[in-house]
Amino acid sequence: MGRLEGQVAIVTGAGSGIGRATAMAFVDEGCRVALVGRRPEPLGELAEELEEHGGDVLLCPADVTDRAAVEVLVDRVVSTWGRIDVLVNNAGSNVRRRKVEEVSEQDWDAVLRVNLTGTFLVTQAVLPHMRAQGSGTVLNVSSMAGHRASALTGPAYSAAKAGVISFTDSLNLTERVHGVRACAVCPGEVATPILDLRPQPPSAEARAAMLQPEDLAQTLLHVASLPQRATIELLTIYPTVQRDWTAESS
Ligand SMILES: NC(=O)c1ccc[n+]([C@@H]2O[C@H](COP(=O)([O-])OP(=O)(O)OC[C@H]3O[C@@H](n4cnc5c(N)ncnc54)[C@H](OP(=O)(O)O)[C@@H]3O)[C@@H](O)[C@H]2O)c1
Repeated sequence: MGRLEGQVAIVTGAGSGIGRATAMAFVDEGCRVALVGRRPEPLGELAEELEEHGGDVLLCPADVTDRAAVEVLVDRVVSTWGRIDVLVNNAGSNVRRRKVEEVSEQDWDAVLRVNLTGTFLVTQAVLPHMRAQGSGTVLNVSSMAGHRASALTGPAYSAAKAGVISFTDSLNLTERVHGVRACAVCPGEVATPILDLRPQPPSAEARAAMLQPEDLAQTLLHVASLPQRATIELLTIYPTVQRDWTAESS
């Protein structure tokens, strides 16, 4: 029997990187998974692959910053499967011009909106269902940049990811009484497409030494599959061989 047998999860940003690996790992453990992201194509390809192996998935193209779209997606999951056990708030992004002296107000807002407000909007839509069930797990993908500023990621992204850690704290404060737990997962560098947005994307060699998406998938799976009585509130995971992430490039 799988570690998430019979459970239902929503994974945002499921079309690539950490979200894709997490959706695969959850399905492997018997979980039904709603795949969320803006681009339907990578979600469709993943759904096809998972269904070929007997997975039960729901294709849910949606922008997590669009409240109406988020409500439609959550309603769809509940009307299809009747519950939501795990929410993985993983959708996130950054901008190329990210230094404090060059980041535009529009880009600052966009980074805050997808990484922080998107996490809030999906959580707010899911919580009533978790409260009614008396159980649920919210996994918020933050970053090492959320607790240690990094020139590589820039101030908007750091502020957004710090906000995600704080939001997770707030959730644990008010929701544990309803049986709902939350965890902020803070990875160091993971070899995923988000790194292509850096002003100077890292080399293939550097990416090979980083964490890989499946490492994060196993981490998120571990937190989600602990007995409901146990809450990991904050988890950091770094590559064993850490590069100099105070540098402005590489
Ligand atoms: N890679 C790292 O080094 C690293 C380190 C720490 C934390 N993280 C965090 O890990 C999470 C996953 O990123 P990743 O590294 O796996 O990179 P990724 O492959 O670029 O994944 C990000 C995903 O988010 C989706 N997304 C972006 N904006 C969205 C929106 N408004 N609504 C819905 N989906 C949206 C993207 O799909 P669409 O474009 O199709 O929407 C994409 O599939 C992010 O929160 C990121 O900040 C990454």
